[in-house]
Amino acid sequence: MEEQNICICADAILRGEVIAFPTETVYGLGANAFDERAIKKIFRVKKRPADNPMIVHVASIEQAENLFQKIPKHFFTLAHAFLPGPLSIIGYKNASVPDIVTAELTKVAVRMPAHRIARALIRIAGVPLVAPSANISGSPSPTTPEDVMSDLRGKIFGVLDGGQCKIGIESTVIDLTGRGPTILRPGKITAKEIEDIIHTKVHLARQSQTQPASPGMKYIHYAPKARLILFYGEKNNVIMSMQTHCMQLQNKAHRVGLLAPHSMKHVCFESFYSLGNGSSVEYARRMYKGMRELDEKHVDVIFCPAILEEGLGLAVMNRLKKAASRKVNVK
Ligand code: TXA
Ligand code: MG
Repeated sequence: MEEQNICICADAILRGEVIAFPTETVYGLGANAFDERAIKKIFRVKKRPADNPMIVHVASIEQAENLFQKIPKHFFTLAHAFLPGPLSIIGYKNASVPDIVTAELTKVAVRMPAHRIARALIRIAGVPLVAPSANISGSPSPTTPEDVMSDLRGKIFGVLDGGQCKIGIESTVIDLTGRGPTILRPGKITAKEIEDIIHTKVHLARQSQTQPASPGMKYIHYAPKARLILFYGEKNNVIMSMQTHCMQLQNKAHRVGLLAPHSMKHVCFESFYSLGNGSSVEYARRMYKGMRELDEKHVDVIFCPAILEEGLGLAVMNRLKKAASRKVNVK
């Protein structure tokens, strides 16, 4: 049945349809990377700004090689160590990649997802697929088929069901075209892990550039409809501060939701969404779903404790900071 659905979707892709499919990071909205009309459809249904390029997804290293003008330095080493997996690699594109894919940039981001369904879909379609996250631009990325449908119902051909995404936040994006390898978007694969493999310093792109290296960096992102407030500090102090802020807001008839580790469930809130044991892995896996569920409960404000910006925590905090409208530093 699943095999049959994948074939139906691969076929639809070759007819110019757009299909949502699971990856190990988040659900992607896929179209034939060589079909400009289908790509325009993605920009339209996602309401994606036209200057934001898309990652091209492949099922094999050979398919990736075919997209580059020249294979970037370190590409094979990284591919050998991390692919298939949550790493998108940027190199100079060749003429086969339509300009609309890269939003007129001369560089293309290429990713080989690890998810069985994603790989089967690309392999059977026989073409690389562009696949931005399958949400309306700016809203939290989708980690289940239900999230995709709640944003895109009626606007796409369909969604392949792969259950909940394992990792839950988007791939690491690394640019190999500059002086040194540079991470444009942190993800599960960290700078340190990459440095250990290529024995070369990996830079982190600054997020506050006026000319962002990755156009996607300049938009408000991943945000729930409710205002998200991040709390920084030692756990017990954060709990006390959240309680105080909660009471103040409730007195003004605001509805408050809490997105936090299970151990904070007792803090007095109307709506709680658990981030499991509070590790960076659990934050990554559950936070987008939590934002969506709390929005469905129509809270006005969401409180979320910050975590250490280390390892996967750097990627988690990168997304949470972009989603947040305010920070509270607890002494
Ligand atoms: O995990 C992922 O990467 C997911 C799944 C579906 O594979 N895809 C994803 O795509 O997150 P999207 O479009 O939501 O985010 C792609 C990011 C954007 O910030 C975009 O600006 C950046 O990658 N990007 C894509 N191509 C680029 C390029 N040629 N140069 C610089 N940044 C690029
Ligand atoms: Mg996205």
